[in-house]
Amino acid sequence: MIELSNVSKTYFSSSKGSDSNAVHALKNANLSVPKGTIHGVIGLSGAGKSTLIRCVNLLERPTSGSVTVDGQEMTRLSNAALNRARHRIGMIFQHFNLLTTRTVFDNVALPLELMGQKRHTIRERVIPLLEMVGLADKANQYPAQLSGGQKQRVAIARALASKPQVLLCDEATSALDPQTTGSILELLRDINHKLGITILLITHEMEVVKSICHRVSLISDGELVEDSEVGDFFTAPRTQLGREFLNDFLQLTPPKELMERLVDVPGESTHPVVRLTFSGDAVSTPLISRLARECGVDVSILQAKVESIQERTLGLMIAELLGTPEQTQQAMTYLESHQLQVEVLGHVQRND
Ligand SMILES: Nc1ncnc2c1ncn2[C@@H]1O[C@H](COP(=O)(O)OP(=O)(O)OP(=O)(O)O)[C@@H](O)[C@H]1O
Ligand SMILES: [Mg+2]
Repeated sequence: MIELSNVSKTYFSSSKGSDSNAVHALKNANLSVPKGTIHGVIGLSGAGKSTLIRCVNLLERPTSGSVTVDGQEMTRLSNAALNRARHRIGMIFQHFNLLTTRTVFDNVALPLELMGQKRHTIRERVIPLLEMVGLADKANQYPAQLSGGQKQRVAIARALASKPQVLLCDEATSALDPQTTGSILELLRDINHKLGITILLITHEMEVVKSICHRVSLISDGELVEDSEVGDFFTAPRTQLGREFLNDFLQLTPPKELMERLVDVPGESTHPVVRLTFSGDAVSTPLISRLARECGVDVSILQAKVESIQERTLGLMIAELLGTPEQTQQAMTYLESHQLQVEVLGHVQRND
């Protein structure tokens, strides 16, 4: 439904297009979002997320590359054809972008008015949309009288007014508290499920990806560096940045007191501190007790967590492996051979 092929976007601060202060916000981005799916793009601030999503409906024109939505190559359309194509692509924003001087009803009606539709056709479309987003009783209120979550519901109804096939969400829940975020994500999931609308959303929050996305791409410094099923991304991110997002989300970092005692290089009487990540069968296998039996290594668990991500279970543990260097090395090899990811965080001197 959405295909980006080698899309680059460079911003020039001077109109002459000189290279000296060019910002390469998007570099050769390739992305394919099948019809009816929800695809997330996650990245840090300034990574190029808004640039990417704005290239889909050509709010930003790519410097090079092609953008195809529902079989139409967007960059080749005339202005009139682009306008028509944009009716098939709804968009919502972090700060809702409602018109403050218009009522809720009139905000949702706006795209239909711009399309030249008649008053009664507009009414027939707007009322059910307001019902769908749970705001039928607020039709005559103004945005200032609404909560953030309600404003985003109005923006969603407005985005759906022209019956789009695609919905673009630029940090749609970033200005909302966690509970309201949950209810907006549920509404988006419903829209995807019931109306079959393809959703491309960008976010800096793993929780958003975990809650509603089928697939996720990771963007770093203008490049799409990972593209995975959500379950894979949460169990085995392929890049260092992906692992950092995951660790932040799981909040599994060693206690500060331990971090201060960690050294990089093993010594005479140090023990490795490891972060273990395990999924699938490994979660239910009693590997820790087997380590003791088969490798003679004791495991001191410092932190542990189990998360359910879609149908997958993900376990994380920070542990100290107690044994001789040969035994602990053997233990790590044993764990890796059972599909656990083992990351040595450092080595710690035994106190006793
Ligand atoms: N209109 C513009 N002119 C010049 N540079 C821009 C423009 N828009 C964005 N940039 C630059 O392009 C890069 C990517 O910006 P973008 O807004 O796409 O990032 P983002 O991932 O959406 O960030 P955030 O999470 O903070 O919204 C940044 O370095 C930004 O400063
Ligand atoms: Mg942005």
